[in-house]
Amino acid sequence: MKKYKILSLLDSDVPLEGVIVNGWVRTKRDSSDFSFIEVNDGSCLKNIQIIAENNLSNYNDLKKITTGSAVTICGDLIESKGSGQKWEISAKKVDIISIAPDSYPLQKKRHTDEYLRTIAHLRPRTNKYGAVFRIRSELSFAIHKFFRDKGFKYIHTPIITGSDCEGAGEMFKVTAINTEKAIKTNGQFDYSQDFFGKPANLTVSGQLSAEMFALALGDVYTFGPTFRAENSNTRRHAAEFWMIEPEMVFCDIKGDMDLGEETIKYLISYALKECKEDLELFGKYVDKELIGNLENISSSDFIRLPYEEAVKILTKSEEKFEYEISFGKDLQSEHENYLAGQYFKKPVILYNYPKNIKPFYMRVNEDNNTVAAMDILVPGIGELIGGSQREERLEMLELRMDECGLLKENYWWYLDSRRFGTVPHSGFGLGFERLLMLVTGIKNIRDVLPFPRTPGNIEF
Ligand code: 4AD
Ligand code: MG
Repeated sequence: MKKYKILSLLDSDVPLEGVIVNGWVRTKRDSSDFSFIEVNDGSCLKNIQIIAENNLSNYNDLKKITTGSAVTICGDLIESKGSGQKWEISAKKVDIISIAPDSYPLQKKRHTDEYLRTIAHLRPRTNKYGAVFRIRSELSFAIHKFFRDKGFKYIHTPIITGSDCEGAGEMFKVTAINTEKAIKTNGQFDYSQDFFGKPANLTVSGQLSAEMFALALGDVYTFGPTFRAENSNTRRHAAEFWMIEPEMVFCDIKGDMDLGEETIKYLISYALKECKEDLELFGKYVDKELIGNLENISSSDFIRLPYEEAVKILTKSEEKFEYEISFGKDLQSEHENYLAGQYFKKPVILYNYPKNIKPFYMRVNEDNNTVAAMDILVPGIGELIGGSQREERLEMLELRMDECGLLKENYWWYLDSRRFGTVPHSGFGLGFERLLMLVTGIKNIRDVLPFPRTPGNIEF
């Protein structure tokens, strides 16, 4: 007797004797002589069909089995006599591990995504969400494979930090102060008495730490959770999301764009190849054009366009935008979606943004007006990647910190990297959930996060 995952049984080339399968019942049909039990164990989309004949010693008990019940089956993998599946298990023993009562919320009918969000603890048991989270797992692995094969080192950057990388001030405070008891002076807690002796936050990006390690180990990447307290309740913003942040040394903005494009194409090709069955489900039920669109993205060149040219396209367009656009203004998601989704109908890399709308660390261009920033916009989602060449010149970086109102003494260690052995370097952040939205065609970020954190939502 040997334990198997359903995935490997369904992949088998030969019949097998003495297999054990553990799983949960999706459906059951009884006839006078035997029961058909469809079992799923989460290893793949498909269920395995179990034939339990009435000569089993506990055959009468099997009548109690309901959708959602947990079972262990011992039997033989045999060729199925029925159509629709190649293999089935002829059961020698069916152990009932637990019976789910009729109140089990996932009975055999389609539920809306909105309803399933209210039972986020159970939704991975549905076909659709099982597929989402298997793809999430596969692509996490693919990210490590991609960068490791390229010789990048994987760095764990801190989750609690004292700095605000993006300078947007949208951070969650971390404190050990007893806020109910501690006394405020001038409306402020005394953070010098706090755990770290100064204010601390959850990180918005691992970039600043990654830069320090790139200047030591060569090309590096981080892949971890990041946190933003921006109060934007949109379908593409979460308060806790995962970001992949590579940082390359001796690399300019062109190399940064190349890596961004290559990363997206690799991950999409990987999903098309390794998550075929799960992706077909999304191609069938979520977005009929999904597979074709993904194949196009993975096989054709991205558009590369200076921000200034994008603004010209947008101002000339007949499209009615809610927000006006002109040079010096940040693109809104409607503009990003118009460019990638309607105008070019493929991913677009915008670069050389005005410096006044970008963070302090981006390298100032010769025009002294724009920075070597690049964002990759994709159809249906908008910004998927945000990156830049970093300002490696000490004086220029100090100037930019002054302009941005940052206290240089707080960043002394960051400035040190420009004092000692500074080199041109570049990197970007790729939003992992937005990538998953692109790959699955799912329209709401809440549906690709195991337990989404958004304004007003901390259940589960
Ligand atoms: O453009 P962002 O803010 O860039 C940075 O944080 C840089 N420090 C990255 C770097 O250069 N190392 O964020 C990068 C990406 C965005 O393009 C987007 O895909 C994702 O992170 N992102 C979010 N995803 C979900 N919810 C949010 N609230 C997000 N904010 C950014
Ligand atoms: Mg950005």
